[in-house]
Amino acid sequence: MDNKRREGFSSGLAAFFATLGAAVGLGNIWKFPYVVGENGGAAFLLIYIICIALVGLPVMISEFFIGRRTRKNVVGAVKQLNNGKIWTGIGIFSLLGSHFILFFYSCVGGWVYSYVFKILKGEFAGATSRTVAYQFTNTTMGPISPVIWQIVVVVVVSIILILGVKNGIEKITKTLMPVLLVLIVICDIRALTLPGTKESLAFLFKADFSKVTSQTILIAMGLAFFKLSVGMGAMVTYGSYFTKEDNMIGTASKVAISDLIVSLLVGIAVFSAVFTFGMKPSGGPGLLFMTIPLVFSKIPFGNILLVAFFILASIAATTAMTSMFEVPVAYYSEERGMSRKKAVIVNAIIIIIFGILATLSVNNDSLLGGIKIFGKGFFDLFDYLSSNVILPLGGLFIAILVGYFIPKEEIKKELTNNGELKIDKVIDFYYFILRYVTPVILIIVFLSSIGIFR
Ligand code: PHE
Repeated sequence: MDNKRREGFSSGLAAFFATLGAAVGLGNIWKFPYVVGENGGAAFLLIYIICIALVGLPVMISEFFIGRRTRKNVVGAVKQLNNGKIWTGIGIFSLLGSHFILFFYSCVGGWVYSYVFKILKGEFAGATSRTVAYQFTNTTMGPISPVIWQIVVVVVVSIILILGVKNGIEKITKTLMPVLLVLIVICDIRALTLPGTKESLAFLFKADFSKVTSQTILIAMGLAFFKLSVGMGAMVTYGSYFTKEDNMIGTASKVAISDLIVSLLVGIAVFSAVFTFGMKPSGGPGLLFMTIPLVFSKIPFGNILLVAFFILASIAATTAMTSMFEVPVAYYSEERGMSRKKAVIVNAIIIIIFGILATLSVNNDSLLGGIKIFGKGFFDLFDYLSSNVILPLGGLFIAILVGYFIPKEEIKKELTNNGELKIDKVIDFYYFILRYVTPVILIIVFLSSIGIFR
């Protein structure tokens, strides 16, 4: 494809919202609260923030660098930069990662969409623990309805992608991200007036390190990668659409901080509600789908709050999926000579087929729940492999490629926009962390996760 005719974002603000749309997703709303809840709250949060600062953010900046430097999809970009074969693995990893995440993510996305309709139909009015459990089982066990909702989500995202980078991704994220932010603030204002707020804040901000193990650190690292959407080429692909004036270190930092704020705001809302009604923060993946409807239905204006919450979750799911899905779409349309539309359709079919496997194996009682690979059903397997293996390994490769195989001058030139930005010290700091801290942490976490190192 002729690089001059390649589409891109029209401004720095558009790039910011698109990237924020990629970062803010079900990770903040569905994963973050239960992972923090299961791992003891504040101590975990602190480790997570360290992972973001020392690993996630440097990798994100490196991905932006790779993307904008080459103006290519992830496979083409890595090929061009290194001109060699070893790093082709990053490209393959990215395509695999994006598909693996989409397989289970589209399933949860479908549940979220379906909840908006259920709430609007009044199915959660006067909810009890029995009825929410029934609704959740009904939503997830289908087996027909979760598959249909999953297909709906994939089709919505496909349409956005077929519209293109400017008319699809940029327009949608620029319109919906501000809506999401307003909705979350509304939820928090309500939540902060609940009696459980104090306990919720203590849970999130008062650290108890007795529960921290090497496993905790691995989980925090996985969550950091998943949250920032790094390690699988999404940020390379979006970076390739940035304008040449974009301050990429600035954009990356703003996105990382905003994403963290969103996670905390969701956490505060969720845990305030949970503590108010004496429920357990460690409710697991069901926290969003059972605890939240139950708790919200008990507070005044709860139903309005509940719709707002699930609409914001739907927005988050949609814009995040858009960024994952763009990775293979850019690859197939630029490297494999497919039209954009065909690339979207072909990938959508793959995602739906494998996604159905995930949807039908959510737990042991699911239709395909009996099928186990390495002791895990498809849903858990896709989730585990992407968060804990593919993204961190992809991130490690990216850190090593940019940190050790590309001349610092070239990196500096790109990150300062050819010397326009006077941020040399910041770049020196980033470069140091990228070379000596990021890879070391990643390698230690890996070795300890497979039991070689304690
Ligand atoms: N960051 C997204 C979330 O939190 C997930 C994601 C991962 C999106 C990888 C794109 C790429 O939900």
